Amino acid sequence: MTEAIGKETGQDTEEGPAEDKDSNMRIDSLEEEIRLLKNQIRSMDYSQSLERDAYKRELSALYDELNIIRREKKNLQKQLDDIMQPPLLVGDVVEDLGNGEVIIRNGTGQSFITTISDSVDRVDISAGVRVGLDKNNLCIIRALSKGKDPIIMGSEVLERPVTSYSEIGGLEGVIGELKESVELPLTHPELFKNIGIKPPSGVMLVGAPGTGKTLIAKAVANSAKCTFIRMVGSELVQKFIGEGGRLVRELFQLAREKRPCIIFIDEIDAIGAKRLGMDTTGDREVQRTLMQLLAEMDGFQPLENIAVMAATNRIDIIDEALIRPGRFDRIVEVPMPDTEARLAILKIHIRDMKLSRSVNLKAIARETESFSGADLRNLCTEAGMFAIRNRHRSVNKEDMRMAMEKLRARMNGSQDSGPAGMFG
Ligand SMILES: Nc1ncnc2c1ncn2[C@@H]1O[C@H](COP(=O)(O)OP(=O)(O)OP(=O)(O)O)[C@@H](O)[C@H]1O
Ligand SMILES: [Mg+2]
Repeated sequence: MTEAIGKETGQDTEEGPAEDKDSNMRIDSLEEEIRLLKNQIRSMDYSQSLERDAYKRELSALYDELNIIRREKKNLQKQLDDIMQPPLLVGDVVEDLGNGEVIIRNGTGQSFITTISDSVDRVDISAGVRVGLDKNNLCIIRALSKGKDPIIMGSEVLERPVTSYSEIGGLEGVIGELKESVELPLTHPELFKNIGIKPPSGVMLVGAPGTGKTLIAKAVANSAKCTFIRMVGSELVQKFIGEGGRLVRELFQLAREKRPCIIFIDEIDAIGAKRLGMDTTGDREVQRTLMQLLAEMDGFQPLENIAVMAATNRIDIIDEALIRPGRFDRIVEVPMPDTEARLAILKIHIRDMKLSRSVNLKAIARETESFSGADLRNLCTEAGMFAIRNRHRSVNKEDMRMAMEKLRARMNGSQDSGPAGMFG
């Protein structure tokens, strides 16, 4: 409770609701009775021990009554305080400045410096904690989400993803480029500072479905030993006006707490596609969310131990504003695998499988021309299923052939939607 509220309730109890007045009077009279009894007991001599004991019993009964009334009074007072408490504003702590001052950001994105009320435990206040603020003086009155991570709706936070580069086949060029443009600035920012250049502000992975974009983003975080925060674009498209923008703000705020980290906005097309003249409310809300993302990226220094990555398979429909300098200014293409890459990917996915000698992986790699990494993984899984169904001890050539036929049929059946159709 703030001082302001204390004063208000104080005034009210003086004039007071009827019950409170009664209990105050009863407390006064009980205290008076107790005082008199005590005096009497004190003035008695030892010859009157029987009466003394009786008085003492009476005294303890009076004390009991007094305690009950005091407790009731306290409860009433608390209820009254709760009723009197004005609605609180909600904000998030951005930074604790020490000396009882903190930077707060409210729901509409304004930041300001405020103080912490004496009634709030300082240890509950730290960056990221949601707090209740007094409406008048904006002083912090309550910590709302004590000690909890502000986990943002729909985001996936991995302290350090387990996916490593060794699980990725055939993308050496892409890995090399990401090591330089994402990993190095995270792990050795001083190298960039010394030379005086800035790493890319954001890296956009572009490639067909199933080529390993999500996989590789996780592997970069693993290699850089940092936290990985993934948000899928469509999760940022919210029903309520301003909600998407708030999520974006919270996403970047979370990143600041978790650094070093990588923010990965997967399937960014959901918010980053060009508007095609349709001017619906939903459309404007998506636009606002995008604007917030652009604002966060603009107000953001590379080398802050936070890297921003995104992925899309439709670079052709991405709004140019997103790929301007200072935003996603490095486009990295994740290609479909060639024969050699397909062989590497197959080798990764059969690592834990029992394979018969009859299987010629090189031949399979040659025959899977339009297969993506995800298709190849499915091929291996399907072949395994055939082996189980056919009661084979290991996956043989025949299982592989049947799996390939099955996948081809599915791929041809969904050609309109591209190779990804088979997974949809
Ligand atoms: N280069 C690769 N090496 C090994 N496995 C791969 C590779 N590419 C894809 N895979 C397999 O396919 C799965 C799906 O890949 P991933 O989700 O990373 O693709 P994506 O490019 O993000 O696809 P989308 O555009 O549909 O989101 C991975 O979990 C992995 O098992
Ligand atoms: Mg993906």
